[in-house]
Amino acid sequence: MTHGQPAGSDADVARCPVDHVLPSSPSEQRPSDGKTGHAAAAPVRLLPPMSLNGLPRPSGRLPYFGDLFKFSLKSPVMDTVKMGRGLGPLFSRKILNRHVVVVANAELLGEICDEARYAKHLVPAVSMLRVGVGDGLFTAYDGEPNWQKAHNVLAPAFTQGAMRHYHDTMVELSTKFVQRWGTLADSGVAVDVTRDTTRLTLETIAVTGFGYSFSVLENEQEHPFVSAMMRTLRFARREAMHLPFTMGWFGRHAIAQQALDQQYLAREVDDVIARRLAEKDTSTDDLLGLMLNSVDPASGERLDDTNIRYQILTFLVAGHETTSGALSFALYFLAKNPEVFAKARMEVDAVWGSDPEVTPTYEQVAKLRYVRRVFDEALRLWPTAPGFARKSRVDQYLGGHPIKKNEWVIAVLPLIHRDPDVWENPEVFDPDRFLPENVRTRPAHAYKPWGIGDRACIGRQFAVHEALLVLGRIIQRFDLHDSFDYQLQLNEALTIKPIDFNLTLTRRV
Ligand code: HEM
Repeated sequence: MTHGQPAGSDADVARCPVDHVLPSSPSEQRPSDGKTGHAAAAPVRLLPPMSLNGLPRPSGRLPYFGDLFKFSLKSPVMDTVKMGRGLGPLFSRKILNRHVVVVANAELLGEICDEARYAKHLVPAVSMLRVGVGDGLFTAYDGEPNWQKAHNVLAPAFTQGAMRHYHDTMVELSTKFVQRWGTLADSGVAVDVTRDTTRLTLETIAVTGFGYSFSVLENEQEHPFVSAMMRTLRFARREAMHLPFTMGWFGRHAIAQQALDQQYLAREVDDVIARRLAEKDTSTDDLLGLMLNSVDPASGERLDDTNIRYQILTFLVAGHETTSGALSFALYFLAKNPEVFAKARMEVDAVWGSDPEVTPTYEQVAKLRYVRRVFDEALRLWPTAPGFARKSRVDQYLGGHPIKKNEWVIAVLPLIHRDPDVWENPEVFDPDRFLPENVRTRPAHAYKPWGIGDRACIGRQFAVHEALLVLGRIIQRFDLHDSFDYQLQLNEALTIKPIDFNLTLTRRV
């Protein structure tokens, strides 16, 4: 494991040791017995006579069903988290005939970060999404040609310069957001935090990325695009569980609905593209402009029309689901920890001033160092993209267990981010864990809410800028009241978010 590199730093590409790689040929596996005259070379490790069942596993596993009944369709990730407590850094989970190795601590996460030994893998719930988003950035298989092409074409949209360009739009949309919350505060009506942050982040990626407004900040009704998107995510998750879900009337109805949703989403996106083409706009100022008007510098090729549609859908989902959850968790912790809130407000006042009518500049957003720590710590306890999978490139060992080439393992971040060997009192919310001096002393792979390597989150800077801006504006304007003594409940749909989280607000005095 690489120590000394700041956890959560931009240098996310893994540098892990390769000393656990299995010898490749059987002869190499033969240990020296001391009688053959061969010199006893470096110790050679044999595959131990154990199957994956040799891994710790939850109690009460049933023949055929495995751990199926320990899972709810609504919460497969959090059920894995519950199941994993006490099972150690590596354990096995089995649903019907699908056996998965779960990585649950920072040290082993460090190993699977090694790009030479492991690659991105799509878990079934993600690969199911390929019906709608094909080889878009998030769902492209490792090594699929369109991934590199699209990554090269879209990278300019995520530079500091690009963030500066999005800033004014983000300010404008966040103004609408806090104005609406102001109206609710004045009338004493509670806000539904997650619902509202979801609307804001969807509108933000749609307008900044594609110049398209869903008008969700003005409307109380859920936009049909959002309903179709959410049904698609839920459908993929159910399909991935391999349940006899596709049988009977309910199954047929869900499949028919899914087909309709796919057609609708594709039509809407094609409409966004057609409008831009009709404008004869050749700029490359946003994601759509880059995809329509620029080429991959390496191949000289532009993205094909189908891939552009896949990328738009990908960004509409990936660009809002996770950020809204992260904002909601941060607000949850701010509401539950008045002393943290008071420090955050002191910082906002010091950097931006206390007059909410004066909007922050681009530079002032990144200066909210304490609010950033609140955000980072919220993502530690509740990483809104709660896991990712890695496929082994070779036969090798992981934590002493044999992993075959092409076998995949899954990293469960809520467990890894609570690794007691790394985090003192891991369940306690403490933003100061992210003070630079504390970050420096942690192993590099202790904290990975943005994923790893080349396939790490391309939208990280975008999410952080948007989140700090919105949190700062809320903190500057409102006092948060946890009037309903909210007990955290999670909604899982590929990402995790608080659900039914209501706060009452008052304007600050
Ligand atoms: C708090 C907010 C966010 C979190 C926690 C987050 C987390 C992640 C993680 C963990 C991955 C890697 C998944 C894997 O390895 O399977 C990822 C990938 C990705 N994210 Fe984010 N994300 C966030 C916001 C965003 C935003 C705002 C955008 C777009 C504007 C975005 C676009 C993407 C894309 C396109 C990928 C796929 C990258 C690739 O494979 O090339 N994300 N994100």
